[in-house]
Amino acid sequence: MKALLTGGTGFIGSHTAVALLEAGNEVMLYDNLYNSSERVVGAIEEITGKKPGFMKGDIRDEARMKECFTTFKPDLVIHFAGLKAVGESVAKPLEYYDNNVGGTLAMLRAMRETGCRRLIFSSSATVYDLHNPSPYIEGMPVTHATSPYGETKIQIETILRDLAKAESDWSFVNLRYFNPIGAHPSGLIGEDPNGIPNNLVPYVARVAHGRLPFVRVFGGDYPTRDGTGVRDYIHVMDLAEGHAAAANYCLTHKGEIPINLGTGRGSSVLDIIHAYEKACGHEIPYKIMDRRAGDLPSFFASADRAKSLLGWTAKRGLEEMCRDSWNFEQHLAGKSA
Ligand code: NAD
Ligand code: UD1
Repeated sequence: MKALLTGGTGFIGSHTAVALLEAGNEVMLYDNLYNSSERVVGAIEEITGKKPGFMKGDIRDEARMKECFTTFKPDLVIHFAGLKAVGESVAKPLEYYDNNVGGTLAMLRAMRETGCRRLIFSSSATVYDLHNPSPYIEGMPVTHATSPYGETKIQIETILRDLAKAESDWSFVNLRYFNPIGAHPSGLIGEDPNGIPNNLVPYVARVAHGRLPFVRVFGGDYPTRDGTGVRDYIHVMDLAEGHAAAANYCLTHKGEIPINLGTGRGSSVLDIIHAYEKACGHEIPYKIMDRRAGDLPSFFASADRAKSLLGWTAKRGLEEMCRDSWNFEQHLAGKSA
């Protein structure tokens, strides 16, 4: 199979490229490098022994996308490209709608003109209505999101569903990711956000390194096991393998379907801190602070649909997620030393 990965040099795209290449597929990465580096292409080759194709380009550039489709002739697209910072999307909604929704429309037009009709989309658990109880099930209502970022995910899912209804030759799989963390065990690829991280695990990693003084635990009085927020953390290599399974499904089914990619298990902020302490071998200081605005006490996936339709379940636990995250951090520190 030939897969075109938009946003393919990013965090999840690069790990998916590894999983697809290792399963014997051909891969082309298409990315404008807004939030990633071309160095990732070499790292993927070093891990797999196979060189993925790479084309620098923006998904909003329809002519460039068409050029990519006509030269590579993919069997399917995995569409990771997008802006993803929730807070930034509140400050810059126009940029988010333009890039994520506008970019997807341009890409779909290029696909239609060049005859590619299969797409896997990077959606998010953020599409679920906040009032739904966990586990989140794909059939639950999706009405509105709490940020422009989340709204772009809902709108793109809607566009794909409408297109599949109107033109029966399309196949769309909307993968709703929960909280991806960790890195490839080689330490050669992973997630390295700029500035002070918003997300928990990159923040904990920096505290573990001594680059930040302590973890700010947002809320210790939630109605959860230990009072801290509970999420469904999933190892990025499990997520990557979920895409390989979804690709097989997408090649053999028509229409549109949302599928959760999560473990089905919730872990608290303190669970993460303690698992990371094991990984790095020393204590990680933390302070319980006020709740962060907009956070939910607890959410996790129902992983049943992914199991029954894709034959996929997440295999890796918190220990492996934190070990691989820490290993990647040490590679980064080695590079900058
Ligand atoms: P990332 O920022 O590491 O990767 C996204 C890639 O897309 C980057 O390499 C960036 O340069 C590229 N890109 C952005 N806009 C582009 C454009 N207009 N044209 C071409 N390339 C463009 O992010 P990620 O964590 O790998 O996320 C991938 C996808 O998964 C995103 O759509 C994100 O919204 C979604 N998602 C991520 C998470 C998460 O926690 N990481 C959770 C749910 C959903
Ligand atoms: C956030 C995004 C979600 C996105 C996901 C990517 C919001 C509202 N949601 O989810 O759309 O898909 O990131 O992984 O931003 N926490 C701390 N201290 C910190 C950081 C986080 O205690 O410094 C806590 C949070 O309160 C939460 C948990 O850790 O309970 C996870 O937070 P985070 O990693 O930011 O992910 P989400 O908020 O679940």
